Amino acid sequence: MILVTGGSGQLARALVEGAGARPLRCVGRPAFNFDRPETLAPLLDAAAPALVINAAAYTGVDQAEREPDAAMRANRDGPASLARWCARAGVPLIHISTDYVFDGRKGAPYVEQDATCPTGVYGASKLAGEEAVLASGARAVILRTAWVYAPVGKNFVLTMLNAAQRTARLRVVADQRGCPTAAADLAAAILAIADQPFDRPGIYHAAGSGETTWYGLACAVFEAAARHGRRRPQVAAIATADWPTPARRPPDSRLDCGRLEATFGVRLPPWEESVARTVAAIVQ
Ligand SMILES: NC(=O)c1ccc[n+]([C@@H]2O[C@H](COP(=O)([O-])OP(=O)(O)OC[C@H]3O[C@@H](n4cnc5c(N)ncnc54)[C@H](OP(=O)(O)O)[C@@H]3O)[C@@H](O)[C@H]2O)c1
Repeated sequence: MILVTGGSGQLARALVEGAGARPLRCVGRPAFNFDRPETLAPLLDAAAPALVINAAAYTGVDQAEREPDAAMRANRDGPASLARWCARAGVPLIHISTDYVFDGRKGAPYVEQDATCPTGVYGASKLAGEEAVLASGARAVILRTAWVYAPVGKNFVLTMLNAAQRTARLRVVADQRGCPTAAADLAAAILAIADQPFDRPGIYHAAGSGETTWYGLACAVFEAAARHGRRRPQVAAIATADWPTPARRPPDSRLDCGRLEATFGVRLPPWEESVARTVAAIVQ
């Protein structure tokens, strides 16, 4: 049985939906809670999984600046406990991390060996989680993904569609570049890795193919929504400096996913196709 953490999160739900005939169980709060570390081992012992996929995380990038302890508990200490249990039990682990471990100043897509340098608490806590998983001795695949969205949950695509219902003019940051990733595509990639022999541990980048800016993503969302009869708002391209946030974001966190494809034969679809599919699922 595959045990997925992350309860009602975007990726955890997509894994449940994409599992097909694979035996998979998803656990979430309150039963599975990184804030109660003493409860993790008994729960894992009882579940006796053949593989653990950790999709649980503290994902509030701005909120993490105000709650660094909570972010570190969920993104460093929790995964550390989980990975130690996996190491003890000899159970492989797939752990999810983020493009925000980078500062975004490279000027080209990041490869796995590039130096990390998070710009905020969220990225720092996720990087600490990666380090803890690697140090645990567990057989672990760490997948760094980016700009995740789904038909449900808290994400940029839904935020844009909801905003366009309320206003005809929007301002969207056009100087941050990255790789939008549909949760369903990431789930399919994870399950394809899970189906293979678990003999290639390490860090891999796993994001939607291609690249864009938040502005480019917003325009693609509204183009897709317009095809289903939604009113198209005016979208103004603005600079990060004109949209101050508590957490500083990397200006260019594009991920090179070549190692994932070369190792597992897995490549996520072009982001434009997946955005169109997800928007259709939301608005229809
Ligand atoms: N969202 C993005 O744009 C993005 C970008 C890059 C990387 N990632 C990574 O991708 C993975 C999946 O993210 P996602 O988008 O699916 O996130 P999400 O929708 O925010 O879901 C994360 C889930 O983690 C669970 N969780 C949060 N704090 C917890 C705690 N203290 N103890 C136990 N469970 C806790 C919550 O589930 P319940 O409340 O239901 O238990 C929550 O629904 C994460 O590792 C994230 O860091 C996400």
